[in-house]
Amino acid sequence: MNDRDKQDDPLFRPARLGALELPHRVLMAPLTRARASQPGDVPNDMNVTYYRQRASAGLIISEATQVSPQGKGYAFTPGIHSDEQIAGWRKITDAVHAAGGRMHLQLWHVGRISHTALQPDGALPVAPSAIQPEGAKTFISADSGMVDIPTPRALEADEMPDIVEQFRQGAENAKAAGFDGVEIHAANGYLLDQFLRSGSNHRTDEFGGSVDNRLRLPLKVVEAVAGVWGEDRVGVRVSPTGSFNAMHDGDPQATFGAFAARLDDLGIAYIEVVEDSFQGNHADGRPEPIVDAIRSAFRGTYIGNGNYTAGEARARIDADRCDLVTFGRPFIANPDLPERFRRNAPLNEWDSATFYGGDEHGYIDYPALTEDVA
Ligand code: PHB
Repeated sequence: MNDRDKQDDPLFRPARLGALELPHRVLMAPLTRARASQPGDVPNDMNVTYYRQRASAGLIISEATQVSPQGKGYAFTPGIHSDEQIAGWRKITDAVHAAGGRMHLQLWHVGRISHTALQPDGALPVAPSAIQPEGAKTFISADSGMVDIPTPRALEADEMPDIVEQFRQGAENAKAAGFDGVEIHAANGYLLDQFLRSGSNHRTDEFGGSVDNRLRLPLKVVEAVAGVWGEDRVGVRVSPTGSFNAMHDGDPQATFGAFAARLDDLGIAYIEVVEDSFQGNHADGRPEPIVDAIRSAFRGTYIGNGNYTAGEARARIDADRCDLVTFGRPFIANPDLPERFRRNAPLNEWDSATFYGGDEHGYIDYPALTEDVA
């Protein structure tokens, strides 16, 4: 790029995201890394270093974080339901803020993607319907390997207020931990996505069947969380065509177009859309008709996600296909990703063997550019 193009670089146009002013459009996606301290799923000093190293992101969205013991689905993922966890996250938000960054917490309940070995009192995981996610796996300890997921228990209608309360309390706790806002995880086959999509929601009560009914619990959660934070500090993540965790929907354009319209009514800051994923996608590439449906229904910020390069992000921002982009695996391997994009510098390659669980290796030892590379 020549100097004039650099000044016009779409990735480095400042942007407003709800209540936040972002210096640029290169955001860090939520990334499960499974390195919280045990017992208690508590964020630790190594996690502080990891997030501090990435504070130059336009916004950091934290790894998925369980709002309750029932919401946990993998060994070593962090929570936001105990005092120790809140104190651990407070060290992370303080470090990110001191380094000039901004950070949202991602609020997570895994629903059926769990295991009796991870649930309180060995209970069955919960879901909209008692449908086993075929082929989906989790890990329950450092040496368990990937294990099958059991058939879950269908939630009773009178348990829904407690699910909403788990998210509301998680939102309160995120505030106590010093975050700038929260993202509600309604993607990738976890609890709220299980309610949204017809493949996993076979209920015949007011929480299943019609699109309106499938949206009911997720919307109650969004309302409760926005009540804690204000709608301008809340976002929602969706994956309309994702196949990860045995997910599918009969008409994702209708389902997610309607969800986007209702989220527009609530006035939340953003929708982050997993358009493509290395973990599986029913669409061939980005699902453009669904992008259109969400964008035309929702006036807030649209964040694109999934297999983006800097070049594709620039092109899609310029073409008004998205406003901002979250990068996942490139941020794992490049703590200074925005600076590398700004300079068109080479990227470190990621090592997928160290994505989930383990120690500092493949976590906080990816190098930043040295000054003399400039
Ligand atoms: C995972 O642990 O593989 C995982 C967690 C959360 C996601 C996607 C994948 O949203």
